[in-house]
Amino acid sequence: MKPEILQISPMMPHVEAALEAACTVHRYWKAEDKAALLAEIGPRVRAIATGKGCTREVIEALPKLELISSFGVGYDAVDVAACKDHGVHLTNTPDVLNDAVAETTMALMLALCRRIPQADAYVRSGRWLGGNYPLTAELTGARVGILGLGRIGKEIARRCQVFKMRVAYHGRHEQPYEPYEYYADLSQMARDVDWLVVIAPGGPETQGIVSRAVMEALGPEGSLVNVARGSLVDEPAMVELLQSGALGAAALDVFADEPRVPEALIGLDNVVLSPHQGSATRKTRKAMGDLVVDNIAAFYAGTPLLSAVL
Ligand code: NAP
Ligand code: 8YV
Repeated sequence: MKPEILQISPMMPHVEAALEAACTVHRYWKAEDKAALLAEIGPRVRAIATGKGCTREVIEALPKLELISSFGVGYDAVDVAACKDHGVHLTNTPDVLNDAVAETTMALMLALCRRIPQADAYVRSGRWLGGNYPLTAELTGARVGILGLGRIGKEIARRCQVFKMRVAYHGRHEQPYEPYEYYADLSQMARDVDWLVVIAPGGPETQGIVSRAVMEALGPEGSLVNVARGSLVDEPAMVELLQSGALGAAALDVFADEPRVPEALIGLDNVVLSPHQGSATRKTRKAMGDLVVDNIAAFYAGTPLLSAVL
């Protein structure tokens, strides 16, 4: 008999195929009467696969639940407190996406400072015939502060070094064996750098950590790059500061209420906007999906989970 699992949201075809081959899959997002589905499968379902988090309501409706296998390294959309309350293990998909996200970050930084989207539009519209494109800034020699020198942050730092940037970081702890300057105070770091790259986890602890004061410290010559979660940045303040020029520029892969993006950002020339593309390569998404499946397989085989958060 195949084990029964609950799948919260649609997942990539190779993930769905692998889950389907190993398990009887109940599709939560397709159920018209979700409460009835949960009541019916509650006595049998021990594992969940999700790409869109998981609520306390769902966790508490499944008394036999032991595992949530979540797609993505960030698990801020999973109710971690409810998992802890009910002894539910949680797995995510760390490390396999570090390079892809770091690459996206560099692409956004280059796009912003070399004005790649505007330059592309310049050629397409025939304006090059009327004269050369205006000169731009460059990354070389600039100072970058990384908020969150974790798995991905370290890959970003290495790439920034290759671009001959000076790297500093902020986190709750100093990492004495890293070759970068540590700032215990985020505003102080923002004051001292040209670029602030945000790549710390979302959730209540980091909500609004990039405050108006931090962005004011970054200042009119500073650029903000958010590849973490929209929740880390005070978005209304960011929009206001970008409009007034009190914050120089921003490259944004994530937003507070995505896929909805503040209308005011659309018309701004000092921003580059990206639709949460950090890890979105075929290779990386395949590896992330495999890890979701492999964690479920390990759980049912009784072997150690491959990437347990809880
Ligand atoms: P990680 O290895 O856990 O690193 C997180 C870093 O953030 C650590 O260095 C940690 O340092 C710091 N940090 C944690 N809480 C903090 C706080 N309250 N204040 C300041 N710094 C804090 O995580 P990761 O694998 O690099 O992933 C980071 C995040 O990136 C994910 O959680 C996810 O939200 C986001 N992400 C986005 C995309 C995308 O597509 N845009 C893709 C992947 C990941 P300390 O412990 O010293 O504080
Ligand atoms: C994914 C991400 O796109 O891993 C993360 O935390 O933000 C991205 O890699 C996202 O989790 C998919 O929903």
